Amino acid sequence: MEQRKAEDLVRRLAAALRGTELYSPTHPLVQRGIDALATGAVEALGAASNVHIGFLGDEVVVDGTRLPRGSASLVGFARGMREREIEKITLTRGLTRDEIRAFVFVLSDRKSPIPLGDRLTTKGVRHIVLGKIVVDEGSEENTGILAARKVYGTAVETAETLWNAAKAGDQPDPGAAKKIIDSLAKMVTQDRTSLMALTALKKYDNYTFTHMVNVSALAMAQARALNVEGTLLREFGFAALMHDIGKVNTPLEVLNKPDKLTKDEFDIMKRHVVDGAHILRRTPEMPALAPIVAFEHHLKQDLSGYPEKIGSRKLNLCTMIVSIADVFDALRSTRPYRKSLATDRIRNIMGERDNPAFNQVLLKRFVNLMGLFPVGNLVRLNTEEIAIVTAEHPTDPFRPQVKILTDGKGALLEEPMLTNTWDRDSRGEFPRAVVEAVDPETVDIDPLKYMQ
Ligand SMILES: [Fe+2]
Ligand SMILES: [Fe+2]
Repeated sequence: MEQRKAEDLVRRLAAALRGTELYSPTHPLVQRGIDALATGAVEALGAASNVHIGFLGDEVVVDGTRLPRGSASLVGFARGMREREIEKITLTRGLTRDEIRAFVFVLSDRKSPIPLGDRLTTKGVRHIVLGKIVVDEGSEENTGILAARKVYGTAVETAETLWNAAKAGDQPDPGAAKKIIDSLAKMVTQDRTSLMALTALKKYDNYTFTHMVNVSALAMAQARALNVEGTLLREFGFAALMHDIGKVNTPLEVLNKPDKLTKDEFDIMKRHVVDGAHILRRTPEMPALAPIVAFEHHLKQDLSGYPEKIGSRKLNLCTMIVSIADVFDALRSTRPYRKSLATDRIRNIMGERDNPAFNQVLLKRFVNLMGLFPVGNLVRLNTEEIAIVTAEHPTDPFRPQVKILTDGKGALLEEPMLTNTWDRDSRGEFPRAVVEAVDPETVDIDPLKYMQ
């Protein structure tokens, strides 16, 4: 985009936001600001299918070009975005005035505790995506949780663009999907611990896209542990990523309904398996496995699930793996209609004897793979201290290494303390033992902060 036009667009965005923060929603200035922004955005999207607006320090970058510094309003705007932890705004073609309006209102409400991404989805904003800037993609020096976080964040963002493309009836970009799968496959092989820790997080942006990435990562981790490698491993990852893509056709009020679905609504929801198979069958470069898994992923091992009455059938191995990852992730994610459960409870539900939904051998392997107290989980000790699991004991899953974060009364320690719960004291006893997993939200601790 021409620099002058880019600057104009950013100014309109800044002005619309400022207006909305200052005046009541019905004020003419607010309407005018939104109209001006809508006109500018539609014009910009007439020339290109995407416009990326990034914020680097106090600078604003549009499609890779830095806007000239020195304008106080732009500096303030960039700072405001940084305060909201927005590094990048991507506008995509198809953007409507209603979406712009919703976007501006959501952004100017600084008090809501709900993550921005979730609020935008709820308001039906599909063509504006918030994201992080990936700075030096080539640098491999960054390892561990930080690198994993970056890969994971990018994957969630890409999942969102795939979803939006399918929703708009376009073909999801196979190149973008391939990139996510490659980076996740690499992590599953090289740094499974960090990746699994990220999938353990509940408050990570937005359920739909996080779920896609989590199921993909969890499925590839299982497949890898079964010695599936190379192209097949990636095909598993692909199929897992896209398993719920049929939900693009599910009406939002059903998809996001906070209460239990009625019979009719559930029937609508059930269609996503067939719709998904259709979408994936006509997507070029999609492995043949993907529509199969989309079709089968709610069938259950004994075919008691849906689609109903499909006759006898043997589920694909990938379906069995994805079903486990799917239910596991759905249970631990904070959904509007279900309080999240700690990892150990999930395992109890899934591990109920002869649960006909799952292949028992695969399920056992999955539980072993995840560990009893996986790295990155918060746990309560018998001393009432809260700790984060930092390493597993090689043979005793009940005795991990932990970093103690709070004292017995819940007050944060100034300096977290690393302890092996397998160490004995001078009397030969274990001074500390893990009692249970703890939901990070109930204690208001962000586990990621302590994993570096
Ligand atoms: Fe599903
Ligand atoms: Fe799912």
